[in-house]
Amino acid sequence: MSAVLKIDQFDLLDDASCDARINAAKRILGGRLAILGHHYQRDEVFKHADYSGDSLKLSQLAAQTDAEYIVFCGVHFMAEVADILTFGRRSVILPDLAAGCSMADMANLVKVRKCWSELSELLDPDEKVTPVTYINSAADLKGFCGEHGGIVCTSSNARAVLEWSFGRREKVLFFPDQHLGRNTGLRMGIPLEQMVTWDFAKPQGGLTVDEIRDAKIILWKGFCSVHQMFHPAHIEKFRREVPQGLVISHPENSYEVCQASDYVGSTEYILRTVRAAAPGSHWLVGTELNLVNRLRDEVKAKGVTVQFMSPMVCMCSTMFRTDPQHLAWVLENLVAGNVVNQIRVPEAIAKPARLALDLMLEVVD
Ligand code: 13P
Ligand code: SF4
Repeated sequence: MSAVLKIDQFDLLDDASCDARINAAKRILGGRLAILGHHYQRDEVFKHADYSGDSLKLSQLAAQTDAEYIVFCGVHFMAEVADILTFGRRSVILPDLAAGCSMADMANLVKVRKCWSELSELLDPDEKVTPVTYINSAADLKGFCGEHGGIVCTSSNARAVLEWSFGRREKVLFFPDQHLGRNTGLRMGIPLEQMVTWDFAKPQGGLTVDEIRDAKIILWKGFCSVHQMFHPAHIEKFRREVPQGLVISHPENSYEVCQASDYVGSTEYILRTVRAAAPGSHWLVGTELNLVNRLRDEVKAKGVTVQFMSPMVCMCSTMFRTDPQHLAWVLENLVAGNVVNQIRVPEAIAKPARLALDLMLEVVD
């Protein structure tokens, strides 16, 4: 082991120097290293990923790899999931520890426990309510679900997970993303009136006793700051300009945007659908800009046109934090025998969280 290299030694390197150093480190580390990259990563980082995917695919890949080091080019909750699913037997590294998720931060254990206890004044939640957390959440919230008969979902298996949940208990408490919960509930035929929004800043979620009693899904009032930039007006304009065009959106978008779209699904689903599209087709895509730009360039040669849904440039600012400088820094430290920025979830939290994650992986198999 040599002295730990400091990020300051990398911060001012240009991208080309970082590329050369990343490639050299990858050659030395060989099969001991797996770099996982989420579809929202910027190109300069994404091109170095050994595997790419949506949240579900990346969790499955993390669980399967036998690489000693998993460098996660994504956000904090994804690295936590990789650590939990590998029982701490791998070193999971997040190149920039500030790469969080603003939506995940909208729910925390104190607030979710408060909600559970307020619900228990009206009904027995452990008998009547399945807690379902979107994978975009802290590990202790996954642990909460594991301890209360609940489960985790991603944007690609939310429907299967909700079906599983309703097979066990009559209601679902869904956090932190209200939109994924609502859009999935609608696709299952649950009317809007039976999906109420729990405002965690208000006593009893700002809901009446009757609203809670009649609800099938109680939706946490969280949202993704990137997807809230897309509006039905963007779709209307596209339809006026390109009447034969098709619209595809991520389920983190609002109910109105999803209703106005032709297709709704996870990042992996969006890529699969547009890659398989007929030559000459035109697509409006409502998800993060880096994914959309790459997809636009990829399918251009086939004569498929891809357009970003918002007129504003909107990227996920936390995904964007992972840059080639941080990637080069963590990899050169690995070569020197130093594990920096390791994500470790204490076993007391990891154990119940694993229960809820394993259930999720079983439900989708
Ligand atoms: P998926 O890649 O699972 O669709 O999720 C999008 C996202 O917001 C990741 O944080
Ligand atoms: Fe979180 Fe939204 Fe960024 Fe995904 S796109 S990591 S949900 S803030």
